[in-house]
Amino acid sequence: MGKKPLAALVLATAILATPATAFALPSMSSSLFGPSTGCGCHATLVEQWRPSMHAQALTDPIYLVKLKAANEATDGALDEFCNACHSPIAVMAGELDGLDQSGVSAVGFEGITCDFCHQVSGTTEPLGNTSAEVTGDGIKLAQLKDPQAPHPAAYSAFHETAEFCGTCHNVDHPGNGMHLEATYTEWKNSPYAAEGIVCQDCHMTPGPGVTKPNPGKAAGPGPEREHIYMMTFAGGNVGLGYADLAEERLQAAATLDLEVPEFVAGGEVPVTITITNVGAGHYLPTGLTEVRQMWLEVVATDEGGRELLRTRRDFVSVLKDAEGEFPVELWDAVDFESDDRIPPKQSTSNEYAFPMADGPVTVTATLFYRSCSEEMAAEAGVDIPTTTMVSARSVVYTSAEAAADAESAELAAAAEEPPGGMNPLIWVAIVIAGAVVIGAGWGFLRRPEA
Ligand code: HEC
Ligand code: HEC
Ligand code: HEC
Ligand code: HEC
Repeated sequence: MGKKPLAALVLATAILATPATAFALPSMSSSLFGPSTGCGCHATLVEQWRPSMHAQALTDPIYLVKLKAANEATDGALDEFCNACHSPIAVMAGELDGLDQSGVSAVGFEGITCDFCHQVSGTTEPLGNTSAEVTGDGIKLAQLKDPQAPHPAAYSAFHETAEFCGTCHNVDHPGNGMHLEATYTEWKNSPYAAEGIVCQDCHMTPGPGVTKPNPGKAAGPGPEREHIYMMTFAGGNVGLGYADLAEERLQAAATLDLEVPEFVAGGEVPVTITITNVGAGHYLPTGLTEVRQMWLEVVATDEGGRELLRTRRDFVSVLKDAEGEFPVELWDAVDFESDDRIPPKQSTSNEYAFPMADGPVTVTATLFYRSCSEEMAAEAGVDIPTTTMVSARSVVYTSAEAAADAESAELAAAAEEPPGGMNPLIWVAIVIAGAVVIGAGWGFLRRPEA
């Protein structure tokens, strides 16, 4: 007992004393859930789901790094809480023993798998912390009103709601109830909720925005349908999830407006950068935001490459503990020290200034995203690249004449380039040949009439 910090014991006691805010899943055998390998008729959907983070939720190396840290800091008090969301079947079946995954069944290792989601019938209150109600009766539930399946299947209005996702995408501290992750609540308070645009419309359709209808077949032998959803669940993770789909979503999430004066003779140059969350149905970034990183980098350089300005602003949330210390880990958190993220359809304005140079200055503003720090990725042994979400550049000249000179120099340089494209005579030949062919074709078509 000597090596356990006092804080861990206090937390463990607090967690045990307040079971109401911890997860609420029933006990159930994993044999009630079929593995994805049994979903062959839905081969396309299985292929979509397999690379998703849902499929990797229990094996995700970044998750395992954090789980181990939580386990050590709280003497295992959080193991079941964490695992309940990352592998609900294994937890319901009691197959996990803390960090020991040796007893986990094949379907348990599938994390958030087909047959878990499709046997969820509703939620208990309050929503979040794995509040799903699970049937375990084998009847597959989804939005199809006329399921034509060889297995029992039924219509579920719940699958069409954001609350379905909210059962896991709202995470409250099991001890003190603090809202650690609030993607569902952020969406609920946004204009998207008012418009009836739900999570599924952006995360279960082909494009980064709302791309409905998406016609297709729900199952190989089934009928052609006007709209079906995809089991891709792509978000912002370009390292573990779908790289292309995640990058596309990150690049559609924000716009960046860079404002600088065209000419500044001397003194300070003001820079205003406005970033707008145009594409995410929740805060940008959302989810595990003390781990996610999103930052604006602004650099101004003169002709000689000398940097007149280099600055970084982070759009993240910082957690603090009961003593007001920050940043702290999520299990020690009681509140946010700060939260600089961008709400849906809202903007932030950022003002900077730098001293003007004797010649033109190039200003570049870039918004970057990472799912976690390089240190954390290295610890987990995974490669998480940095994504450029959006970037803009502008040149500030010392005077209108200097700008005009630069422009004519550019034009001259362009004119000196070897002439591109084909010789004009070839075009003339193509047009004549085309006319002959059309004329001949016309004559051919008219012949039967004559
Ligand atoms: C995270 C939960 C989740 C997982 C995992 C999941 N689904 Fe779904 N699935 C849904 C939801 C939600 C809908 C309905 C979306 C709506 O109506 O808004 C759906 C719809 C469907 C449909 C109806 C047809 C369609 O595509 O719209 C089928 C069939 C289906 N899923 C099969 C699967 C299979 C097979 C897997 C595993 C490879 C899978 N699902 C994984 C949540 C999930
Ligand atoms: C049983 C709990 C659960 C349910 C239900 C659930 N999710 Fe998830 N979701 C998770 C977990 C856990 C992860 C992270 C997995 C990991 O650590 O790799 C995740 C990851 C994601 C990601 C990827 C995040 C990223 O960083 O790229 C998206 C997008 C997502 N979920 C969307 C949805 C949507 C949309 C729904 C509803 C149709 C839904 N989820 C339902 C638990 C759930
Ligand atoms: C209008 C489209 C839209 C809606 C609605 C929407 N999202 Fe997203 N979501 C995005 C985009 C774009 C991104 C990528 C930018 C980012 O990471 O925030 C994203 C990212 C995510 C991520 C990864 C966040 C990260 O950085 O780790 C998760 C998880 C997620 N969404 C879950 C949800 C859930 C759950 C809902 C419903 C409560 C939802 N989304 C509603 C567009 C949407
Ligand atoms: C109520 C459900 C829930 C619980 C409980 C939960 N998580 Fe998660 N976790 C999620 C969701 C949803 C995501 C995806 C959010 C996002 O993409 O930002 C996630 C993502 C993560 C990630 C990021 C994975 C990656 O590859 O980027 C880590 C790490 C993580 N969780 C660790 C933990 C730990 C440790 C615990 C226990 C202290 C825990 N989680 C408890 C739902 C949960």
